[in-house]
Amino acid sequence: MVSFTAKSNKINSLASRCLVVGVHAGKKVKLSASAQLLDNASKKGISAIIRKGDMSGEPGSTLMLYDLQGVRAERVMLVGLGAEGKVNAGDLRKAALAAAQLANKSKVRTLDISLFDRNHGRMDMATMARQVVESIAHGLYAYDETKSGRKKPAALKSVSLLVDRSALAQAKKGVSRGAAIGEGMNLARELGNLPGNICTPSYLARQAKNMQKELPIKTKVLSEADMRKLKMGSLLSVSRGSREPAKLIIMEYKGGKKGDAPVVLVGKGLTFDAGGISIKPAGGMDEMKFDMCGGASVFGAMHAIATMGLPLNVVGVVPSSENLPDGAANKPGDIVTSMAGKTIEILNTDAEGRLILCDALTYVERYKPAAVVDIATLTGACVVALGNHATGLFSNSEKLAKELLSAGETAGDRAWQLPVWDDYTKQLKSNFADLANIGGRNAGAVTAACFLKEFTQAYDWAHLDIAGTAWHSGGNKGSTGRPVPLLVEFLLNRAA
Ligand code: BES
Ligand code: MN
Ligand code: ZN
Repeated sequence: MVSFTAKSNKINSLASRCLVVGVHAGKKVKLSASAQLLDNASKKGISAIIRKGDMSGEPGSTLMLYDLQGVRAERVMLVGLGAEGKVNAGDLRKAALAAAQLANKSKVRTLDISLFDRNHGRMDMATMARQVVESIAHGLYAYDETKSGRKKPAALKSVSLLVDRSALAQAKKGVSRGAAIGEGMNLARELGNLPGNICTPSYLARQAKNMQKELPIKTKVLSEADMRKLKMGSLLSVSRGSREPAKLIIMEYKGGKKGDAPVVLVGKGLTFDAGGISIKPAGGMDEMKFDMCGGASVFGAMHAIATMGLPLNVVGVVPSSENLPDGAANKPGDIVTSMAGKTIEILNTDAEGRLILCDALTYVERYKPAAVVDIATLTGACVVALGNHATGLFSNSEKLAKELLSAGETAGDRAWQLPVWDDYTKQLKSNFADLANIGGRNAGAVTAACFLKEFTQAYDWAHLDIAGTAWHSGGNKGSTGRPVPLLVEFLLNRAA
């Protein structure tokens, strides 16, 4: 892990191993104020190099300079920020990431970043600091847990953000948030990337127990016997087809006032989804190890808010199971009784996420929650609708929906709202039970949400379908850590 700080040293006299300053793109490449300062100290050494044309100033472009006269830093790294006055969060993130990657490649252990000599775009100091830190923490993560050979930890160990003394307090706030969110995302990614034979429901339960050693979190894990007593017939029907016992993982964080209604996060923790008897096609089935990414995002968000010491009560709940074909597994046509008492006809055993979530959603009524947000890799249909850019958002409360949409916008982790009208719920009609677990081909993401909605009448609820955003396929296959930034932003706003 890289550590982050903010400080307000003078940059030309700073004994730095590597000092990063910004350069702007344009018809003529333009120095930022910090670069200008070094340019003056070095008798226009930087201008001379730039005139040679090696540096475009485009976001993320870099040029390493050594032994610049009149400057104490061993290395000065120029990094492109894009056009002056038009730098947005994405550009700043790119610049920070490129700087950290080049420093890491050069085996630099400590990095000083001076990219904050003006407020880029409409961002304040805290936002800029947070973006930079989050981007570096995210960018330096590499999965190596199940690769043999010597682990290669990043050379870069600590990063300092150099800012004006007047902005120091704000920068520190941004740094601590960015670091907590980055770490939370990386935890979610690591859990997501681990294979299904390691990351089982019991493994997730152990990780949750470990978290309470390190952070002010209280973990409870319900066993299948506990769940049987609670009559969670729907959840248990899914794990019946698996040799790994299901777990209901509960993490309580009490940062708020005693007695304040908590926000509850419920994450789908399906550690491998083969589809069950309605088995999936073989191609790409490995990616169904990512079917616990909703649960992983709850771990990540809980880790982040507990690290920040957020003044808010939050409960994270992760129903966790496998979904496999077996002699004891659910069969199409089977009818199960949920904890809420509603009977469900299982017409497709691959629509298992809603079966484990509905019982968890009933369970959390006992918290009398201020709001419940569930996060799930729930439907392929959501990927068809929104692709890999936006998370699907569904809610029974317009106010809660707006909060989440705007949190996603601010955090650069966007969601897009879809309806949960009764017109769609009608598609779930069954001749043999209160509800069917699928609603036909049309509007699959919506009917899945409508199914959940039937179990969330006791509170304000929102559902995030992250099937398209939780992981990348192809060459850079791997978990993204989304929607940890959205969730943490939402909770930060609730705490404010
Ligand atoms: N975990 C899957 C959803 C999924 C599929 C996420 C592909 C990402 C990529 C879920 O359990 C599932 O299988 N859903 C079915 C529902 C259908 C049977 C109504 C689906 O989307 O095909
Ligand atoms: Mn499935
Ligand atoms: Zn699934």
